Amino acid sequence: MSYLSETRRRRTFAIISHPDAGKTTLTEKLLLFSGAIQIAGSVKARKASRHATSDWMEIEKQRGISVASSVMQMAYREHVINLLDTPGHKDFSEDTYRVLTAVDSALMVIDAANGVEAQTRRLIEVCRQRDTPIITFVNKMDREVREPLDILDEVERELGMACVPMTWPVGQGKAFRGIMNLRTQAMTVFESGSERLPQDFETIPLSDRETLTKRFGKDFEDAMESMELATGASHSWDHEAFLAGKQTPVFFGSGVNNFGVMEVLDALVDLAPSPQSRTSTTLVNRQPVVKEIQPEDKDFAGVVFKVQANMDANHRDRIAFVRMASGKYTPGMKLRVQRTAKELRPTSVVTFMSQRREAVDEAYAGDIVGFTTHGGVQLGDTITDGASLQFTGLPFFAPELFMTVILKNPLRTKQLQQGLAQLGEEGAIQVFRPEIGGPMLLGAVGQLQFEVVQHRLKAEYDADVKLEGCQYTGARWITADTPAELREFVNAYPQRMAKDAADTLAFLCTSPYDVRLAQERFPKIHFHPLREHA
Ligand code: G4P
Repeated sequence: MSYLSETRRRRTFAIISHPDAGKTTLTEKLLLFSGAIQIAGSVKARKASRHATSDWMEIEKQRGISVASSVMQMAYREHVINLLDTPGHKDFSEDTYRVLTAVDSALMVIDAANGVEAQTRRLIEVCRQRDTPIITFVNKMDREVREPLDILDEVERELGMACVPMTWPVGQGKAFRGIMNLRTQAMTVFESGSERLPQDFETIPLSDRETLTKRFGKDFEDAMESMELATGASHSWDHEAFLAGKQTPVFFGSGVNNFGVMEVLDALVDLAPSPQSRTSTTLVNRQPVVKEIQPEDKDFAGVVFKVQANMDANHRDRIAFVRMASGKYTPGMKLRVQRTAKELRPTSVVTFMSQRREAVDEAYAGDIVGFTTHGGVQLGDTITDGASLQFTGLPFFAPELFMTVILKNPLRTKQLQQGLAQLGEEGAIQVFRPEIGGPMLLGAVGQLQFEVVQHRLKAEYDADVKLEGCQYTGARWITADTPAELREFVNAYPQRMAKDAADTLAFLCTSPYDVRLAQERFPKIHFHPLREHA
């Protein structure tokens, strides 16, 4: 098969949802119905074991498992579907944002009783910034939930995207009768239970109105009425508008009952985009020039969107997850890390091509390749087989929480530095080195990140640290048009300057006014709340 047809048959997506909306259940059913797993319960069991204890350290112990499940690949209808997992806890939302940079579409799962909830809202914003197409699944129709029209209204408002219903529920809760498929013009009759396969549900054509009315009575009539209202008021399906992130197809169902899920799997194949071009910069005559990398380009190019370090504490290894943007991966090929111009020398490579995770021989744009290395790879790194370019767009957010790191045993300084450098590169936390010296600062977006890092410093680097509060409440990365302007600014605020893990200069703030005042004094300095790896 040509590169073009290989990439065209790929779909790479992530599920966005608020905890408990049904992401794990849906993931499991998608894997089950595509044949990627044989037994129901394996994904769920993984979650259960993570949930069994509220202690996140136990979660940490399960990291081996979470890596294995961070990319799940399915083959379905001659297509290769890569599902990227996102961490559930809001304190790790930064990781989720970065995973979202590696997908071409997102599946939004909402609980039909709760509508669009807080965490989903934040993730939607990230998708919208990138115009990522979103497929919507309204879950838990077997419960007493909100009216479908009401839910569509809310999704439209929250997403700023027009909803186009693809299926429509008949009844809900105890009176949930099924869904009408508006494309095939047939009703699939609901039965509860998790043993049934999608093809085992009874279907009745909508044209057989008599049977439908006789069997489902008022529930059916009401559903027809609300469906006609919804389709009358909504835009007609426009595939281009969906691809541009302006329309979302909406499906209803009940994940736990295997109901309405196959329609979503089919939508991923039929509607979701194949790998898209990715923006990079390259130097031409020493000037950065924007270059679009096409998925069918022959040269290998990819970006590290996730690094998971120290899977085995004795080996100091780390897995760099690379989203391929173009080319073909074959084992043993020579790859280079663009930032350092050094060869990438992995000790092992996992592609997620095979359902059994055996060593596999090829991967294409859209696929994720996991390289285990002893270092030399950071989040945001661009990996190519020769071409000199750098992908843009991997976001780091300015932290809002800061702590000072105090080492309990000063003889472990080297280990602390090594640990912080590696955890910083992994994106577990942001590490700031004050320019005037003194203890390192840790910056986080969520409180739990501190606890994880403190624990990992001890467990993986034998560096026992105390974390103390400090006066900082924010940071802005700074740039200027000329080195002289930057120097002038740095000289004016020597105590406020720090460099992060990527050696980028940041201005530390103690209040929101700091930035405003500094900006007034130095109008030519640019203050960035978000740093993109570039
Ligand atoms: P999450 O990954 O988004 O956090 O959600 P998860 O799939 O774990 O689902 C959260 C809860 O909602 C689970 O119940 C799950 O069984 C239930 N659920 C998922 N889909 C449906 C559905 O379509 N209908 C109904 N009624 N419930 C659904 P739990 O009690 O937390 O776990 P369990 O004991 O059922 O496994």
